[in-house]
Amino acid sequence: MAKKKNEIFDEEEKQEDETFDNIRPERLEDYIGQKDVKENIRVFIESAKLRKESLDHVLLYGPPGLGKTTLAFIIANELGSNIRTASGPAIEKTGDLAAILSSLEPGDVLFIDEIHRIPSFVEEVLYSAMEDYVLDIIVGNDGNSRNIRINLPPFTLVGATTRAGDLTAPLRDRFGITAKMQYYTTEELMDIIKRTSRVLEAPIEDEAARELASRSRGTPRIANRMFKRVRDFAIVDGKAVIDLEVTKKALDRLKVDSKGLDDTDYQLLKAIIEKFNGGPVGVEAIASVIGEEVTTIEDVYEPYLLQNGFLKRTPRGRMVTDLGYKHLNLNYQNSIFDEE
Ligand SMILES: Nc1ncnc2c1ncn2[C@@H]1O[C@H](COP(=O)(O)OP(=O)(O)OP(=O)(O)O)[C@@H](O)[C@H]1O
Ligand SMILES: [Mg+2]
Repeated sequence: MAKKKNEIFDEEEKQEDETFDNIRPERLEDYIGQKDVKENIRVFIESAKLRKESLDHVLLYGPPGLGKTTLAFIIANELGSNIRTASGPAIEKTGDLAAILSSLEPGDVLFIDEIHRIPSFVEEVLYSAMEDYVLDIIVGNDGNSRNIRINLPPFTLVGATTRAGDLTAPLRDRFGITAKMQYYTTEELMDIIKRTSRVLEAPIEDEAARELASRSRGTPRIANRMFKRVRDFAIVDGKAVIDLEVTKKALDRLKVDSKGLDDTDYQLLKAIIEKFNGGPVGVEAIASVIGEEVTTIEDVYEPYLLQNGFLKRTPRGRMVTDLGYKHLNLNYQNSIFDEE
């Protein structure tokens, strides 16, 4: 299946906000929302510092763009530690992981993004590294191989994943701290938008910030990205302050509806209704009709539609709910999403 450009999370943009993002908060006190996660982590960090030991390993999971990477960097900052970063798909061989682990300094934070994508034979090397700070590897070739054990300094592994269910039990069990990231409320997103507005020196009116927040799918990355696009419209319209009118205009142009649904969400709901009588239908069938990857549907689109009550999961597959029908009907007639 041809891979379609992912409308919501474009890789390039993700890199952009991971490298030079000055809108990314650096301290726990500037990290908005995720109250429970934040308060617990604050205690664990404090305790680790008082004990002068490394923080227990942390697993962060939840849909994309909710602030896992941001939180990993904040944890390192608050610990006063260096952070090393790696990504699951890039760790292909035992040697890749061994190289990363053996370069760690005492107290370092090792952040592994998309940790569910580490191959299982490599993952096994992580077990003893996490538990006992030792690296057990086999060196040499067939007739002439031997086991060697390398001691590692104490370190903290912070793993991030959009799919906690894909982690093996032994790996999951080795994280002392697990945090599930939640979608943000409109109020929290408003705070994030206002913070971004201050950092970028692009003032926004309260009601405009509210509109933008309520159409951001509960997701800071989307709120920040759309903020920049709304700002573009304001600049071109010669407005010094981003107001409600220009915000609505920009979001309509970007084809983001009142609940933050975009055209892929519409395609998905419409496919279930029109091709499968509203469901239940398996995710593979939906994927092939709308030309998206199953994992993209499961990780990116579905969680928000489920959270909003537009979609439900049954043992026999996905179904569009009454609320989903209602939302679609209201927006269907003069839908900005209808095919030209
Ligand atoms: N709690 C927060 N407060 C303020 N800004 C936030 C918060 N969480 C995220 N952001 C902003 O949203 C952007 C996306 O966050 P981040 O990259 O940490 O998400 P992520 O969960 O790692 O996503 P992915 O799963 O796609 O890697 C960041 O650049 C940051 O500016
Ligand atoms: Mg990330």
